[in-house]
Amino acid sequence: MDVTWGRAAAVLDANWLGSSTVPSRSLYPHQWSWDSAFIALGLRHLSPSRARRELLTLFSAQWRDGRIPHILFNPDTPPEAYFPGPDFWRARRTSGLVQPPVHARAVLAVHETDPDRTFLATLYPKLRAWHEYLRTHRDAGGRGLAAIVHPWESGMDNSPAWDGPLSRVTPSAGFVRRDLQHGAAADRPSDEDYGRYVRLAADYRDSGYQDPGAFVVEDPGFNALFADAELALAAIAEELGLPAAAAAHREAAARVEKAMQETLWDNGFFFARDVRTGVRTREYTCAGLLPLLLPDLAVAPALLATATGPRFRLGRVHGVPSHDLTAPEFDPGRYWRGPSWSNVGWLVRQGLLRHGEHALASRLRDDLVETAARTDFAEYVDPLTGAGHGARSFGWTAALTLDLLAQPAAVA
Ligand code: SER
Repeated sequence: MDVTWGRAAAVLDANWLGSSTVPSRSLYPHQWSWDSAFIALGLRHLSPSRARRELLTLFSAQWRDGRIPHILFNPDTPPEAYFPGPDFWRARRTSGLVQPPVHARAVLAVHETDPDRTFLATLYPKLRAWHEYLRTHRDAGGRGLAAIVHPWESGMDNSPAWDGPLSRVTPSAGFVRRDLQHGAAADRPSDEDYGRYVRLAADYRDSGYQDPGAFVVEDPGFNALFADAELALAAIAEELGLPAAAAAHREAAARVEKAMQETLWDNGFFFARDVRTGVRTREYTCAGLLPLLLPDLAVAPALLATATGPRFRLGRVHGVPSHDLTAPEFDPGRYWRGPSWSNVGWLVRQGLLRHGEHALASRLRDDLVETAARTDFAEYVDPLTGAGHGARSFGWTAALTLDLLAQPAAVA
């Protein structure tokens, strides 16, 4: 067995808590929503039952309104290990925010590796309720897109695309950042951004998790993943012998794709839109590349041209830079302001395959595996040098390495 395979498997074993996996023993000692979905994509190759358990544990925390919380707190983790912890959220062992809806894709993949109809039938209604929550409660802009109400909901916390909308938020003070005890300050969001995250989360909490505050944004990454999740849900419905439901999910995906095209596309790229001002942000971030996941995307050639051009230099740098390499605020080591993350690389590779870009997909795969192994499965890497940043032994980096190793080589 490949030595990288064994090392990646060892990371997932070490991060396993018994019914879920922590992204990192030090920096993120609980269960995170989109992390768990990516982790399940790797776990399915080691133990499909563990992958099923990972997802079932997450969905056990689903709220009555359908939302899947972004964190499910582990009761055995000391309260001082992570901020904001369960006491802050006042929501029965979960946060009240969400993260990108990548779960249907993970559920389908786990089933494809080890068919289990009961698993599929158990999660299908929960996935439907989750997507319904996004479709109804989150259509703040009224254009058929799901809005996020906090940067943490994008999963790309300090993306430069949020700088504009965040500038309206007065930072909170008087809290202790636990993340800086485990990560280098230069690799993490700034204190000012953190103060704004805490303010927004507290305001949303105080509204009973109903009313968005100053930050309401339509993110192309979140919505591309939502449309892709509806396509996965269509495949799940087909598996369950529900063709009419499958057709409805495909239509839902097409509606989100159309709304993205009409609202977020501008001259070669998908940009986020600030719902409060109606203004599209001008930042080229990796979120704008994720619509490549959609096989029918008419503008794929133009988007691919941007991806391989000077802003992202796909295939000529390590992974997929989280931010425009030519932008003045590009920072190769600071979280989502430049570094390459393996989940984005994995998603963009899927998109390349869906649009017939096999050679580029193959180059990206080889680089992702090599970089992950060399950096001890770093949370993110400098796209220019390949140096690791953030946590090591990071859950989804290890899991997606396993998944890439398990894929047959990309051939036409
Ligand atoms: N990504 C956030 C953090 O850094 C929370 O979701 O803790």
